[in-house]
Amino acid sequence: MSRDCLLIRNAGPLSGEVTLEGAKNAVLVSIASLILADGLSRLTKVPASHDVYQMVKALGELGIAASFDERTHELVVDATTVSGVTVSPEIMKSMRASILLMGPLLARCGSARIALPGGCSIGTRPVDLHLRAFVKMGAVLIQDGDFLEARVNGQLKGCRIVLDYPSVGATENIIMAALGAHGITEIVNAALEPEVLDFIELLKSMGAQIDFTFPATIVVQGDARLRATTYCIMRDRLEAGTLLMAAAATGGSISIPDAPVSALELVLVKLEDMGHLITVGSQGRGVTLVATREMKPISFKTMPYPGFPTDLQAPMTVLMALARGTSSVHETVFENRLMHVPELQKMGANIVVSGDRATITGVKELCGAPVVATDIRSAAALIIAGLVAQGETSMTGTHHLFRGYEGLDEKLRSLGACIDFVN
Ligand code: UD1
Repeated sequence: MSRDCLLIRNAGPLSGEVTLEGAKNAVLVSIASLILADGLSRLTKVPASHDVYQMVKALGELGIAASFDERTHELVVDATTVSGVTVSPEIMKSMRASILLMGPLLARCGSARIALPGGCSIGTRPVDLHLRAFVKMGAVLIQDGDFLEARVNGQLKGCRIVLDYPSVGATENIIMAALGAHGITEIVNAALEPEVLDFIELLKSMGAQIDFTFPATIVVQGDARLRATTYCIMRDRLEAGTLLMAAAATGGSISIPDAPVSALELVLVKLEDMGHLITVGSQGRGVTLVATREMKPISFKTMPYPGFPTDLQAPMTVLMALARGTSSVHETVFENRLMHVPELQKMGANIVVSGDRATITGVKELCGAPVVATDIRSAAALIIAGLVAQGETSMTGTHHLFRGYEGLDEKLRSLGACIDFVN
């Protein structure tokens, strides 16, 4: 059956219990980092998302054997030999995270040839911070048509890199390059997202020496000889947030026993501010939400962690569109990440956008409409809107959903949602 269009109807409050997949934003870099370890590594809790398959394909193009069992969510990678450094444009253009192959390839092979990255169309999403750091570490960059080649004569050099902005991808890429560099690399103003910390734990399990100093500095010991490992990817805090918001919007209740609560703190505070009842499990693991029927307006600004995550801005906007009063959002992480707004407006939401800010005045109800998802999180937001709207919502652009979520439709159905793919 074609999965190009998702039909969503209001089936009342969602309720029940769900468990989470491994984190989409931790797994791609984790797969890329296995290039650094000689031998057979095993990642568990790997989500069966489209980007994971693309990353596995990319390893294949580098001559690295990889096999993914989507039933057990286990990925086995044998990086005993790496015979290529080029990844085809087909793969690179479908997934921006493919730039994360450059750091480990430079570290292990001394060169990398990759097409300029694609992925979600949110803002211009440059990779200048990654490239500037590689050049500072001694790499030479050559642009050849659609390809960007990075080469180092001998070994990369460890150095002090001060990031203009705590970019998640740049921090991860520099860490991987630094492990193969000679000497110590310090990354100042580094991203400290929970997924970056989980990735660092994976690298430590391979034998990497990585420390933190104040403020927001990551110190990487170079000349590392990394060994193969077995590692379980952290649970997806962004999937948890999406599911909590779906239950909240419908006036339902949800329990997520494996939710990584400490990684979700500000999101839970904002849900509480709206009036939802949040209960955290013992030892900080697991969360339950019982929704209020009268959501209060809130305001937030997206920020690097521990600020409000940009990835949950779009789903949260749907709740704000139904709150009693006027809310506001300031998107500071990505330009152009308010592309779900015109689609929500088609559904009757009262949202005024001015630059990177949105003012949202709650309406009594949304109405179903044909809408188009333009990135992973806008797809999640439009699904949530469809679950509370009167009438039917048909959403195209479903390929964005598959890039970041495994089986979100099934999980929502298990909570009582009426959501189906149609031809
Ligand atoms: C990662 C996440 C994404 C999340 C984002 C911010 C993955 C696979 N994706 O994306 O879901 O929304 O972190 O938490 O982990 N920037 C530059 N130059 C650069 C790099 C980034 O200007 O070289 C800018 C970007 O355009 C953006 C901001 O920095 O405006 C944040 O980007 P970054 O933190 O790098 O996000 P990603 O790693 O792409």
